[in-house]
Amino acid sequence: MAIQRTFVMIKPDGVQRGLIGEIISRIERKGLKVVALKMVWLDKERAERLYDIHKGKHFFDELVSFVTSGPVVAMVIEGEEAVSVVRRLIGATNPREASPGTIRGDFGLNLTKNIIHAADSVERAKYEMSIFFSDDELYEYERCSDRMVY
Ligand code: CMP
Repeated sequence: MAIQRTFVMIKPDGVQRGLIGEIISRIERKGLKVVALKMVWLDKERAERLYDIHKGKHFFDELVSFVTSGPVVAMVIEGEEAVSVVRRLIGATNPREASPGTIRGDFGLNLTKNIIHAADSVERAKYEMSIFFSDDELYEYERCSDRMVY
């Protein structure tokens, strides 16, 4: 099992709806570790860098406009196979299709306002976290629960 770091962002709808605590709690209860965390109000330039792979797609402008409409909560999450584990925790991109029990499946209905974003690969996670965090904002620390078996 590989310890990985992934990038996660609670979108403006998640913040507006008061879901920050619920989402972080689900991530922590799974056994994953928060190693960086901040609230950010993205400008257009940073939002376009975050979503550069979607540039030119029909939903790009709406997506950038939405993620710049209010503050987001950015975090770096660490744990065994963190990239795929977090993707399963958040559920399918379209909340209407996301399984109950996932974050999007439990809280969302709208494809753009789908509450949360997470990187889909280790490489992408590195790129996305670099948009929000400098290296010295990523902490290495041990929790007492790290020695427990989940
Ligand atoms: P996210 O995981 O943040 O990555 C890109 C986002 O684009 C996605 O979640 C959705 O919120 C948004 N989006 C809007 N329309 C589409 C679409 N047709 N296909 C994929 N993503 C879409």
